[in-house]
Amino acid sequence: MFDEIYNRKNTGSYKWDTIVPDGVIERGAYPLSVADMEFKTPEEVREAVKDFTDKGFFCYTSGDGEYRNSVKGFMKRRHGFEIENDWITCVGGVVFAINTAIRAFTEPGDKIIIQTPVYYPFSASIINNGRVVADNPLVAVDDSYIINFDELEKIASEPDVKMMLLCSPHNPVGRVWTKDELKRIGDICLNNNVILISDEIHFDIVRKGVEHTVIYNVDEEFKKNTVICTAVSKTFNLAGLGTSDIIIADEALRNKFQKQLSTDGYSSINCVSRPATIAAYTQCDYWIDAMNAYVEDNVNYVKSIVDEIPQIKMCKCEGTYLVWLDMRELKLNDDELDKFLVEKCGIIQDPGFWFGEGGKGFSRLNVACPRKALEKAMEALKNKVLNGEY
Ligand SMILES: Cc1ncc(COP(=O)(O)O)c(C=O)c1O
Repeated sequence: MFDEIYNRKNTGSYKWDTIVPDGVIERGAYPLSVADMEFKTPEEVREAVKDFTDKGFFCYTSGDGEYRNSVKGFMKRRHGFEIENDWITCVGGVVFAINTAIRAFTEPGDKIIIQTPVYYPFSASIINNGRVVADNPLVAVDDSYIINFDELEKIASEPDVKMMLLCSPHNPVGRVWTKDELKRIGDICLNNNVILISDEIHFDIVRKGVEHTVIYNVDEEFKKNTVICTAVSKTFNLAGLGTSDIIIADEALRNKFQKQLSTDGYSSINCVSRPATIAAYTQCDYWIDAMNAYVEDNVNYVKSIVDEIPQIKMCKCEGTYLVWLDMRELKLNDDELDKFLVEKCGIIQDPGFWFGEGGKGFSRLNVACPRKALEKAMEALKNKVLNGEY
């Protein structure tokens, strides 16, 4: 189901057509960059979309009862997460929702906490809205990262800090936060009147034996000040549909968020995402399990190759399909590292520095791709580094 290699050049793909240096794919490079998958979306979803488009009506759409029930059923079945239908606000993507939340719940000049290295639209959303980044950098320990809770507490207590953007699971370092860690984050936010935006878009993609906890399931109290961002996009490779389900239990918080959406001129999800979401959330659990098993094998494979390269280390990847490689020992600057990976190894990557200062010298690779393509890329990386050709 996941082994087939597709050439997606000239399909309108951002990853394959837009953010690639000219001609590198033609010269054999493969994109392990932007976080969508090289796997076809499940057949049930494709069929549902086809049935819808065949009817020929690209209508104004709402997240109606059937839609909401599919989201609600999925959350309960896969995450033990019980929600009410009216907690869901359907929005055209999680980044859009984060920007809306920033405008809804903070004022220009307010500070918003992030923990770098982190998905770079977090800082962009803060800066673009005239707010200020309050960074609490993650701390590297052995082959993983932890949160500096003392510093988090200190930052959250500053009077102009009004919000925290949490990435859970964390892109790019692959942490799946434990219940204890989530409890501490939630308590710090609650005790300091900091609104918590928990971006859980990667919540279905975790390694065997690792459990993602939806933050409302950690403590009921967190419903008072927390917004949870979910979507079908990462789980089922539906990113291009631009759709997400934002879950807000607190009515006053939800009303404020929806008022901001309305001010921004947003009404509802696009019509194709409705049948796609319903099919994904009601018929495709088997696909998630198969995809997770395949991705896990790929993650383990990358680790096995990296273990043979003394100059490169891999961060423990508990969740997401993104691996975070520490290449600082190659002693290449940002441009040199990218050039080495693209030109010599045929790897189109997301450079670590995009994710914050602490990401310098790192590389993020997307391993939701056919194994053979990954093998070609990793073998090239191993050979070039071991031969000193960098
Ligand atoms: C943590 C995180 N949030 C949000 C997104 C994008 O969400 P959307 O496409 O719904 O805006 C991504 C995509 O990589 C992501 O990694």
